[in-house]
Amino acid sequence: MTQLPNEFPDFGLTPEQRREAVRGHYYEWPGIDGSSGEIWCYGDRFSYRPGETVVLHISSTAPRFSIHIVRDGRVETKVFEKTGLSARWQDTPDQCSVEGCGWEASFEFRIGDDWSSGAYRVTLSAEGRDGQPIQSHHLFIVAPLPGRKPGRVLQVAATGTWLAYNTWGGSNHYQGITGPNRDQYATMVSTQRPWCRGFVVLPKDAPRVPLEVAVPPKTVPRYPHMEWAFATGHSKKYASSGWASYDSHFFRFAERTGYQIDLASQHELHFSPEILDGYDCVVFVGHDEYWTWEMRDAVDAYVERGGHAARFAGNFMWQTRLEDEGRRQVCYKYRARAEDPAYRGDDVTRATNSWEAPEIGRPGSATFGLNATRGVYAGWGGCAPRGVRGFPVYRPEHWAFAGTGIYYGDLLGADSHVYGYEVDGLDFEIRGGLPYPTATSGAPDGLQVLAVGMASQVEESADIPIEDQFLTDEDGRFTAETLFGEASDANLDKVKRGNGMIVNFPRGKGEVFHAGSCEWVAGLLRQDAMVERVTKNVLDRYLGKS
Ligand SMILES: [Fe+2]
Repeated sequence: MTQLPNEFPDFGLTPEQRREAVRGHYYEWPGIDGSSGEIWCYGDRFSYRPGETVVLHISSTAPRFSIHIVRDGRVETKVFEKTGLSARWQDTPDQCSVEGCGWEASFEFRIGDDWSSGAYRVTLSAEGRDGQPIQSHHLFIVAPLPGRKPGRVLQVAATGTWLAYNTWGGSNHYQGITGPNRDQYATMVSTQRPWCRGFVVLPKDAPRVPLEVAVPPKTVPRYPHMEWAFATGHSKKYASSGWASYDSHFFRFAERTGYQIDLASQHELHFSPEILDGYDCVVFVGHDEYWTWEMRDAVDAYVERGGHAARFAGNFMWQTRLEDEGRRQVCYKYRARAEDPAYRGDDVTRATNSWEAPEIGRPGSATFGLNATRGVYAGWGGCAPRGVRGFPVYRPEHWAFAGTGIYYGDLLGADSHVYGYEVDGLDFEIRGGLPYPTATSGAPDGLQVLAVGMASQVEESADIPIEDQFLTDEDGRFTAETLFGEASDANLDKVKRGNGMIVNFPRGKGEVFHAGSCEWVAGLLRQDAMVERVTKNVLDRYLGKS
C-alpha cells in the first residue's frame, strides 16, 4: 500500500476561508459571475427515450451560444453539435430551487433512434462580457426502450440524491435560503434548475470525501473536498452526489470491462417500474439516499419475481414524495414529524422521514438488507478518520469473493478506499468469529453478512473542541428520537455506534447483493483489481454467465 501523507492537502485558503468553506452557505445563482457573464441550462426532464424531444431552458448573458453533446461511457462519443444559436437572459425567481426557474424553452432537439442508453453531457459555450469564453454543463439520461434485454445490466442513477444535494439557486435538502430568515434547508426541491458545478464534470484531481491522510494525533479535522470546492468555485456538494463523483465511475467500468449496460433515472423506477422487467440484473451505485415508496415497490416486486438487484451504494435513508409530475421532490427530513402534512391525515406511511421511523414501518433492510441509521460515517471528520479503508471480510468462501484470493480478516478495497464516507449496516453479533444479524435487526430471512466494518454516527473526542466539530451529534440525536421517541443520552448511546456491511440474501424467486458503501465506486475509478473482481462476480452471476 502506498504511504499516506500525514498532512492535509492545502488549496491556499486562509484559516477564515477554510472555515467558510465548511460552515458557510455558498451556492450558484444567476448573477454569480457578474462581470464575466454566464450561461445556464436545464432540461424539462431528467431522462428521455429514443425518439423523444429534449427541451432545454437556457439563460445567457451572451446573445449567441453553441452546444456540444457527448455520450459519456467507456469513450466519449460526440452525438450533436450546433453553433450560432440565440439566447437571452431570463429572469429567475428568488426561490427557484423550490419553485423552479420558470425560464422559457430555448432550444429543442430529438433523441436519435440510434442514441444508445446512457448519460449525455451537454456543454454550452458562449462569449463572456469581457471577451473570454464562458461555459456550463448539463446532463440528461437516455433511458432504454421497453423490451427484453438478455445479458444487459440496467443501472439506475441516484437522481433523487442528485436533486437533494443540488446547490443551484441556494436551497437543497441540506442548506438553503428558505424560511423567514432565509437560513433553512428546503423541504421541496425542483428539477427545473441547472445542476450545480461539479455534478456533470470534474477534474481528475478533485478530492473525494474520505481522507487520504494519515491523521496525526489530536488533529482538528479538515475537509479537503469542501476547501477545494471553495478554492476552485465548485459546488460545496460536488463530492456528495452527482454523475461526475459517483454514478459515472460504475457506468464507465461496466463498459470498459465489456458489459452491455443501460441507464435510467429514478423517475423511471417511480413512474415506469416495468422498465425493470427486461433485465436479469439491476444495479444501484454511489451515494443513494432518497427514494420514494413506489421506487421500492418496483424493486421489491422485480426481485420477488426472479430479478437480481445489486446495490453498491450507501445511505438508504429518506423517503421522498414526487409531485407535479415528478418536477418536485418533497422531503421534510428532520422537520417531518412537525411539518409534513402526511402526519395530519392522508397516510403516515408516506411521511418523508427516515425509512426506519416506526410510523412508516418500512426499514430499508426490507428491500436491500441494510439500514442507514445502523451505518453512517466513516473516514472523514471526527468519524473514524483513521478507520478501515476497505471492508473487513468474514466469509471469504462466499461466491462473491471467488478468484480474489482474499482471506478471513483481510480488508477488501483498502488501497482504493471503498469503505466510507457513508455506509449502511445492521445490528449484529459475533459468534465463533462470524457476524450474524440480531433477531431485531430487521434483516431479511437468509441474509448472510460477508463483511463488516465500524462506522460512527457522532463525533466524540475529548481532544477536539466542539466548535471544531462539523458532524457533531446532531444526526445521532435525530436517529435516537426517530427510533426511540426521545433524543436522550441513553437513546443516543443505543444508536451512535454503527457499521457498514456487505450482505447477500434470497428473496422470492430472486436475489439481492448489497455492498453498503458510497465509495464502492472509488474502487472502480481507481481500478482496484479485487473490487473489480467482486463486482464482476456479482454481475456475471446475476446475468446468468457463471
Ligand atoms: Fe448522505
